[in-house]
Amino acid sequence: MIFTVAIDGPAAAGKGTIGRAIAARFGFRHLDTGLLYRAVGAKGGDPASAARSLTPDDLARHDLRSMEAGQAASRVAALPEVRAALVDFQRRFARSEGGAVLDGRDIGTVICPEAEVKLYVTASAERRAHRRWLEVGGDAATVLSEVVERDRRDTERSAAPLKAAADAVMIDTSDLSADEAVARACALVLAALNR
Ligand code: DC
Repeated sequence: MIFTVAIDGPAAAGKGTIGRAIAARFGFRHLDTGLLYRAVGAKGGDPASAARSLTPDDLARHDLRSMEAGQAASRVAALPEVRAALVDFQRRFARSEGGAVLDGRDIGTVICPEAEVKLYVTASAERRAHRRWLEVGGDAATVLSEVVERDRRDTERSAAPLKAAADAVMIDTSDLSADEAVARACALVLAALNR
């Protein structure tokens, strides 16, 4: 069975939590595509060469979740050559046998417009920054400005900017618990599987 769940949305909206939960519930494979860009940013050197030569070891680095790695990822992600180098891998993953969930910024719009389920997961900047702050700690105002800056860069770039696909279902997690958001997303996947 070829079946793709595309999840897009801004930083710390809950895409990863929802993506992992869908994968576990339905036995699909999950790809956090932000990790690809984080690994390219962390590798240093020429970003396009880094993107073309990514290895599993690059993705297993332990420093990819930091705020600095997020900012570096957002910067290299604006480069069309970097995005182009990562497209084939993501497309193959999306259409591989057995079902796949991908979360990112351009999955439903560019990587897999034919996805059977498209979700756009969002929340207020304040809620997202608070969640990120619970993970990374530090100064809350700095975390909020980092989230806002990254949203702006990801939304305003010309190469595959963050935006909801026209046929995506919006899930606003501002006032939802993780369990509620997951339940909503799983119900949409189940409905599409039964169609
Ligand atoms: O999802 P994340 O916070 O780990 O993503 C880090 C950065 O990578 C994000 O700010 C923009 C970029 N990104 C992207 O441009 N396209 C994707 N599909 C995923 C991430």
